[in-house]
Amino acid sequence: MKKNVKLELASKEILPDVWMIGGYIANDFFRKPPSSNVYILKDKNTIYILDPGKYKCYKKKIIELVNMYKEKGVNKVVLLITQGHFDHDTNNDVVLNTSLPWEFYLPEEEVPTMKSVDDFMKDIELLSKYENVFQTMFPKSGLSAIFRGIAKISPNTAKTLLKLLIKVSMGTSNHLADKAIILKAAQRIKKDFGSVSLYGWELGRFFIVFDGAHSPGHICIYDPINKLVLSGDTTVEVNPAFCYSSLNRLIDITGKFETMADEGYIEYAADSHRSNKYMSAFIKSFNTKAVNDIQLTEYAKTGVECKNLFHFFNEYYREMKREVILAHSKIGRATVGQIVDELLKSNNKYIKFKAALIFPQAPSRMDVLVVQTLIEEGAAPIKVGNKIFIDPVK
Ligand SMILES: [Fe+2]
Repeated sequence: MKKNVKLELASKEILPDVWMIGGYIANDFFRKPPSSNVYILKDKNTIYILDPGKYKCYKKKIIELVNMYKEKGVNKVVLLITQGHFDHDTNNDVVLNTSLPWEFYLPEEEVPTMKSVDDFMKDIELLSKYENVFQTMFPKSGLSAIFRGIAKISPNTAKTLLKLLIKVSMGTSNHLADKAIILKAAQRIKKDFGSVSLYGWELGRFFIVFDGAHSPGHICIYDPINKLVLSGDTTVEVNPAFCYSSLNRLIDITGKFETMADEGYIEYAADSHRSNKYMSAFIKSFNTKAVNDIQLTEYAKTGVECKNLFHFFNEYYREMKREVILAHSKIGRATVGQIVDELLKSNNKYIKFKAALIFPQAPSRMDVLVVQTLIEEGAAPIKVGNKIFIDPVK
């Protein structure tokens, strides 16, 4: 596999006063982590920065755009993040360099996510209730095998090493979370778009859509003037990326966006990791192919493309969930590892694609897919000796 894919910055105005600075993604998650696409939007006298990304070079580009808009009368900055993950929010402090008054809005459910190391380790704890993490999550070959070996001798040492690795790749800053204006759950409003009801908060001309799908406080941004949705990580192939991701919520929000595209409310859709520059090379690097050409689109530019994009992900999530339940029902009481092995026998195109994105090169884990499904199905882990079994939910 090709390592160290070079980071090249590319920015473009995808719609009037809506800028996309292309992110970075390669198959080396821990050593050369991804950086999300950055979006800059102007509304009246305010510049909105969505997901300022991870690498420092993005800050320079963001400041260039802010300065350009300052000359056109912009005098305020609003910072938003679709999620509190490091590949989206490491550069949050860019607002301090804008020389403008700024506000940072953060959904209350996402506050704990901002502590990256604790957040990741908490997810590992949750995963541990369902499986022997170090023997199931890490592949048997490559560097990961070291973790398996160490964990056999001392699980605590393996956990300390994993925490150290997370600290190095994700950092320990809270990314201005302590300065944020908290968007409270109790203040969410319902807004109807045709037959679809979305829940969230109004901010300027935008509707901040609460979906809580990829992470507990994940948001998307809807721009009614441009009929644009910035869908964050609700449309990324590595989902469900964590045990606290929610397939049910991913299915719900992509289904709603598909209907909105069908009913004429969405004509443009851009997410946090799709790009011309890196996506096809990323998929190819795992010796697989996109299931659907829409995965290789930088962003969807028509109502039909938007409908295809959301339909693809809606089906991807629904099919994966169905396949997990089917595999589990075939073998009955089983460990997560055994359910994964059964799942890997499937010829389902979505399962094959997801399985090709191997961990830790990609932050995509089949065991997490299984555990996340089991959690939402209400399955209870049963400890027998040093093994953890789960019965299929009737
Ligand atoms: Fe992301």
